[in-house]
Amino acid sequence: MNLFEKLTEKAKQHPQRIVLPEGTEPRTLTAADRIISEGIAEIILIGDPKEIMAMAKDLKLDNIEKATIVNPADETVIDRYAPIFYELRKNKGICMEEARLTTHNPLYLGCLMVKAGDADGQVAGALNTTGNVLRAAFQVIKTLPGIDVVSGAFLMLLPEGVNFGTDGILVFADCAVVPDPDSVQLAQIALSSAQTARHIAGIEPRVAMLSFSTKGSAKGDLVDKVIDATKLAKQMDPDLIIDGELQADAAIVPGVAQTKCPDSPLSGRANVLIFPSLAVGNIAYKLVQRLGGVQAVGPVLQGLAAPVNDLSRGCFPEDIYKTIIMTCNQAIGLKNK
Ligand code: ACO
Repeated sequence: MNLFEKLTEKAKQHPQRIVLPEGTEPRTLTAADRIISEGIAEIILIGDPKEIMAMAKDLKLDNIEKATIVNPADETVIDRYAPIFYELRKNKGICMEEARLTTHNPLYLGCLMVKAGDADGQVAGALNTTGNVLRAAFQVIKTLPGIDVVSGAFLMLLPEGVNFGTDGILVFADCAVVPDPDSVQLAQIALSSAQTARHIAGIEPRVAMLSFSTKGSAKGDLVDKVIDATKLAKQMDPDLIIDGELQADAAIVPGVAQTKCPDSPLSGRANVLIFPSLAVGNIAYKLVQRLGGVQAVGPVLQGLAAPVNDLSRGCFPEDIYKTIIMTCNQAIGLKNK
């Protein structure tokens, strides 16, 4: 079984309720129909019910009638969820009228359904920008206890015969959210990525905190940040197998590790790579993807108290389908934690 077959099986065994705020978007509806027909998750679509059903008819999607449809224009819906938003944001100076207005926004309404326990996760971004999808999640879902920062990981699925990581999988982070993390944020990104490795990749994390220096070979603030983050991450989770600061080759090539850092607990077999900034992480994942023929799955948003995942606006129904499956597995992982 490949990774997605395993994730699909797990999702089917523990069906989750996934809310799709872009309910009137054709690629989203197509993915939702497939998820329902394969019995992978319960789907909640946000949008005008008439519009959704007319589109489903046009697209010949017979399973959409089995989805729950929530109309963001329905004032009884707003009556239920706006007070939750008001409570969450009243210290920011919003009034109930503003809370009601925001609750009409499907991205917020979906997150509020998750917050209220009426859904287990949200997938959006086929129409909305990353910033808008993330902001709703930051404001409503908020972060896990002990974590203040949401970050984005990619699962890098290596071509057959390329023996790095574990089972041909490496986790890269942060590649999507935090432009310039400080050492505390970097430590938290390491811990969240370890969780993603367990919950989504199904591998036991071996975390490398990457730099242009290996164990003091170079000096400076950028190196110190990674050294401090490694110490903090160890304090936060003493059982985690983690090491830094390491250059990428010392992290993933046993022969190089033997020379540069013979005492590293990773022994050159890291499977989670933490980059010192978003610029490095984002560039690294795109280069590895393009030059190495590697499949990059994500970003998986990590650190949120309940899963919300963002899509590319250029996505295909297949991407939405897979993101829903990943979201189900994150929800299952968080509940079992
Ligand atoms: N984790 C948790 N909470 C956060 C985070 C975070 N990483 N960032 C911001 N917040 C919170 C803030 O604390 C604030 O909360 P509050 O309103 O309760 O006080 C709220 O979110 C809004 O904060 P802002 O500083 O106003 O954040 P802003 O909305 O300006 O930016 C954003 C957030 C959009 C995620 C920004 O960090 C960003 O643009 N990041 C880069 C995203 C990107 O372009 N990635 C590359 C492309 S993705 C790809 O290639 C896969």
